[in-house]
Amino acid sequence: MQLDDLVSSESIEQEAWTALEKSILYYKGRPVGTVAAYDATVEALNYDQCFVRDFVSSALIFLMKGRTDIVRNFLEETLKLQPKERQLDAYKPGRGLMPASFKVVCDGEEEYLEADFGEHAIARVTPVDSCLWWVILLRAYVVATKDFSLAYQPQFQHGLRLIMELCLATRFDMYPTILVPDGACMIDRRMGIYGHPLEIQALFFAALRAARELLICQGNEDIVTAIDNRLPLLRTHIRQYYWMDLHRLNKIYRFKSEEYGKAAANPFNIYADSLPYYELDKWLPRKGGFLVGNVGPSQLDTRFFSLGNLVAVVSDLTSEEQSQAIMNLIDERWEDLVGDMPMKICFPALENEEYRIVTGCDPKNRPWSYHNGGSWPVLLWLLSAAAVKTNRIELGHKAVEIAEARLHLDEWPEYYDGKKGRLMGKQARKYQTWTIAGFLLAKELLQNPTFLPLVTFAPFTVEPASRACEFELVQVDTVYLS
Ligand code: GLC
Repeated sequence: MQLDDLVSSESIEQEAWTALEKSILYYKGRPVGTVAAYDATVEALNYDQCFVRDFVSSALIFLMKGRTDIVRNFLEETLKLQPKERQLDAYKPGRGLMPASFKVVCDGEEEYLEADFGEHAIARVTPVDSCLWWVILLRAYVVATKDFSLAYQPQFQHGLRLIMELCLATRFDMYPTILVPDGACMIDRRMGIYGHPLEIQALFFAALRAARELLICQGNEDIVTAIDNRLPLLRTHIRQYYWMDLHRLNKIYRFKSEEYGKAAANPFNIYADSLPYYELDKWLPRKGGFLVGNVGPSQLDTRFFSLGNLVAVVSDLTSEEQSQAIMNLIDERWEDLVGDMPMKICFPALENEEYRIVTGCDPKNRPWSYHNGGSWPVLLWLLSAAAVKTNRIELGHKAVEIAEARLHLDEWPEYYDGKKGRLMGKQARKYQTWTIAGFLLAKELLQNPTFLPLVTFAPFTVEPASRACEFELVQVDTVYLS
């Protein structure tokens, strides 16, 4: 690298910091979050609000720079927005939910926060991921500050408990994964990701692990038992049924179907003809693999979703071999998955009739645009975190270099379109905060891998619940029914 490059790299970082500072949202004089985008050239819609999922990238970089106050304020204020009572009105957010976003409203001299749990959002989508990200962020705060006292406060313990109750409640289906409606996460539009989408399952796994570290056992014995019971089942389920590589493709290709009973080798009754197996046969590198997007009855969505795969690597949801195989795939299929802007939200895009039926003819999600195969710079930090975690740091550096050459010139767009990510997103906001923060975060993680534990966990061991809490096992279901 030349001296000039270094200087310009520094000034790009400086520019990013200035833009990030500008995005800070103040409430009663205190910083409480960052707005989604600060782009005065287009109508704000809800981009002038602080989104929980978007704020995570800002929060992590603030934590790394010792600016813990804004993160603490965010955690405290959002906790107050969480409904604590059982709802009688089915149109109101349920107990334990965290909002998708919130804004500061001024009423004369008074200021208050107004939350959106999806009841205002386009298509009224449910932000299932918000409460999961919230738990993950609280734990990152504790790791960064080495101070458990915030998480141990009664109101935080209560909030955590309500989130866990919501996630672990007795439901109709009998998978260890959670069942959610379409658009319940970063992809908050109809994209055929209802059921058991990977993104939610990976965040769920990380949130369970985070909550397990933060919950005081005493008084939460039932929840802790439920977490300890769920974690190994969830992990095995994902590692087994969501995994795709050449070996597994071969197995599925020759699957028998219509098997009844416990011994079925094809328990979900996947029909090989529902898979683009000739495409996958061509695309899958010999040493590569990934977690598929969704698994359900006769359903195996073989699209590659970046966020879910990267969170799985970072949180140890995948085995060491699987994590390496995911990184191999990213490396070998770089042109498809990273191209000219790290990185694709999913691959490949839905096209033609499939696009029309699955998205409901959504013009924003045309093939290779936005959520349907668009490229999202925010994913750069997760790619870098996964690269550091798997000792594939060169992949992180390569991606950052690509982003650095363009992002600031394009004024930090929300997303890019096109098979290679060369077109600035048709409706992309500029000065999108998580693009800016994600870039800074990726650079920081690559320069200081010691920050990685903010988002990673110690190798996973399951303690027998009775020993972990020293109490008698409670029937969790009966607790939730009460
Ligand atoms: C879009 C994205 C969503 C994000 C929001 C604010 O709706 O799909 O993930 O949280 O914009 O940036």
